[in-house]
Amino acid sequence: MGIPPKGTPRDEVLARLESFRAADVDWRSGRVWAYVYDAGREAEEVCKQAYASFLTENGLDPTAFPSLLRLENEVVGRVADHLNAPPGAVGTFTSGGTESCMLAVKAARDAWRAAHPDGGRPQVVLPHTAHAAFQKAAHYLDVEAVLVPVGADFRADPEAIASAIGPRTCLIVASAPSYAHGVVDPIAAIGALTQTRGLPFHVDACIGGFLLPYFERLGAPVPPFDFRVPGVTSMSCDLHKYAFAAKGASVVLHRDPAMRRRQVYACATWSGYTIVNPTIQSSKSGGPLAGAWAVLELLGDEGYLALAREMLDATRRIVAGIDAIEGLRVLGRPDMNLVAFTADGLGIFHVADEMKARGWYVQPQLSFAGSPANIHLSVNPKGGPWVDAMLADLRDSVAAARALPYGHLGAAVRQILADAATAPDGGGFGPLLAMAGVRDGALPERMAGINEMLDALDPALRAQIISDFVDDLFRPRRGT
Ligand SMILES: Cc1ncc(COP(=O)(O)O)c(C=O)c1O
Repeated sequence: MGIPPKGTPRDEVLARLESFRAADVDWRSGRVWAYVYDAGREAEEVCKQAYASFLTENGLDPTAFPSLLRLENEVVGRVADHLNAPPGAVGTFTSGGTESCMLAVKAARDAWRAAHPDGGRPQVVLPHTAHAAFQKAAHYLDVEAVLVPVGADFRADPEAIASAIGPRTCLIVASAPSYAHGVVDPIAAIGALTQTRGLPFHVDACIGGFLLPYFERLGAPVPPFDFRVPGVTSMSCDLHKYAFAAKGASVVLHRDPAMRRRQVYACATWSGYTIVNPTIQSSKSGGPLAGAWAVLELLGDEGYLALAREMLDATRRIVAGIDAIEGLRVLGRPDMNLVAFTADGLGIFHVADEMKARGWYVQPQLSFAGSPANIHLSVNPKGGPWVDAMLADLRDSVAAARALPYGHLGAAVRQILADAATAPDGGGFGPLLAMAGVRDGALPERMAGINEMLDALDPALRAQIISDFVDDLFRPRRGT
């Protein structure tokens, strides 16, 4: 493609950019129940303005940009208070949940290595419902992920965690709440366990840390989940979720400053400027931090409480509505505004397609370790007015899905794999993808076939096939 030979007028550049959005999900419509956290136009505009005005400042060096140092200390301080961190606690602003989780694992890994110089490969104990970010962290950081089963209510099981603890355990993780089912793990019981064993305990409150305190104040039965629980040593809390900041905004907090110190990477053995990075990123825009700071100031405690009330009310109506639809079943009892439901006697992936055909975006989740294939809904404040319409279409979608065949593709895939002497390599997935409707790398309009096929595969094969697919998607058109 090369660099455009000549410049393009500014208006044309921006108009072309705008036109690329045409096929995106329309998140402003109120009909998208994943990916975007929307508190309305004013919050969006203020956040974008603040973001743009600090876009060029570089968080690499807080001494060159004391404005960013101030913003970070203010944002981290607010989140620390919100989560009842003790006075000496410290934290870091990061680019998102994954980075916050990764830094918590790095700090725990390095603490463990320092105490066990010849101890081998450290382990992190993860309930099956812990976010994939921790397995990613383990993968990147050469830590072993030890997965443990959860209870029938999808909450972590303290006894299963206790039996998974061994001499190489460097960190225990639990969620408040888990993304998949929206339930808070028994943090108090796990905290008691980790205290007894003298182990660090990270509460992943990436999605819930900001909102749960408001649900608690509104009288929802929120189990204890934050630094008030003895034994909790670190927490992650994303601001780009229910604090409604622009993406690229999260905070990781440590009860003990000595643990945060282990998060910091410094390098003085090269010929350039000295590198000191408390985060994975080195050069980083001040935009996400300024955007997060601004939206916290704009909405304030009162504003967030009002938004939380809308989400709590909408979630209760949605759970009751789904409970009333024959054939659907809510998985667990959500503690926040994240709802997962499955279908009995009909194809849940068809329900997702039928919803899409009616103009709704809902998120399919594949089955794993006792959690059946399901649909996930993240309830936005702006979703409130849409609840009745959404439930009516859900009812119709279930009726339409009942008439559609399901299960056959999954069975066929299982048969093909059983017949093959070995699992197909990357290139061997072509026929499977074609069976599921993928043509020339393009996804079909209806995704049930693909989802059913993936659902039938062993998780390792699933990961391989989606990696192949995505790897193939990102191919620039060269020489045009
Ligand atoms: C509980 C939890 N942890 C971690 C993450 C990862 O966050 P991010 O996508 O910002 O990296 C998420 C994302 O939804 C989450 O829900």
